Amino acid sequence: MENIILRTEDLSIQFGALKAVNNVTVSIEEDKFTSILGPNGAGKTTFFNLISGRYKPSGGKVFFKGKDITGMTPQQCIHAGMGRSFQLTNVFPALSVHENVRLSVQSAAKVGFSRLFKDYRQYTDIYEETNRILERILLNDKPYVKAGDLSHGEQRKLELGMVLAQKPEVLLLDEPTAGMSVEEVPVMIDLLKTIKEAGETTIVLIEHKMNMVKALSDVIIVLVNGELLCEGDPETVSNNPDVMAAYLGGGVINVTT
Ligand SMILES: Nc1ncnc2c1ncn2[C@@H]1O[C@H](COP(=O)(O)OP(=O)(O)OP(=O)(O)O)[C@@H](O)[C@H]1O
Ligand SMILES: [Mg+2]
Repeated sequence: MENIILRTEDLSIQFGALKAVNNVTVSIEEDKFTSILGPNGAGKTTFFNLISGRYKPSGGKVFFKGKDITGMTPQQCIHAGMGRSFQLTNVFPALSVHENVRLSVQSAAKVGFSRLFKDYRQYTDIYEETNRILERILLNDKPYVKAGDLSHGEQRKLELGMVLAQKPEVLLLDEPTAGMSVEEVPVMIDLLKTIKEAGETTIVLIEHKMNMVKALSDVIIVLVNGELLCEGDPETVSNNPDVMAAYLGGGVINVTT
């Protein structure tokens, strides 16, 4: 299918005796919101590490836009158009909100400092693009606040902005609401909805919160013990007896929050 942006074939990695990701074959469609669900230790983050070049698979292949990218470095994956945020927050705490995003916009525009000062137009573009992203991530009222002084939830939004600045064709988000307060979670959900509706990028989300996954996803992929348990639309997946058994048996996926 030509609308498949990302595909894995029998993707596997083993750590000693542990098959952390085991023969996972999935296709992710362009412009569909895909979520990856699964209990703690299911292999979700490892799966992202494999498709974004952080880990080299011990077996299988990764295709991005039809091209075999198996074994590419994280940097090569970013250049190919893959953006990712991490389970732990990654911002420059001593820099302001604006500076954090601007650095990311700048690196995406591949503008060196010398050129930056010569080309005023380019500078204006970067400034405007930075402001556009600050509006999108709802931090336009805090441009000069030091990132380290933001709340945890705001830092996660900033991190999202930094990834968006790179204009990724696929956005891999690993639990963007991890550690957020109950008030902050709906804000992040709305933000992801806005990004989805803008259609600028294809989002793949790892998330534990079932209501959030259901509200956002077109497709849900369930991993358990490193293996693909099932995939499909939210209704089909949540009614799948194997998924229900994994929930009840494992008791680790939080179905209510
Ligand atoms: N670099 C590594 N070396 C050894 N074992 C690892 C490594 N990375 C992950 N693992 C193991 O692989 C398994 C899957 O871990 P992973 O972090 O992918 O799970 P997860 O589904 O993201 O879990 P969580 O929901 O808790 O974030 C775990 O048992 C973990 O301990
Ligand atoms: Mg994880």
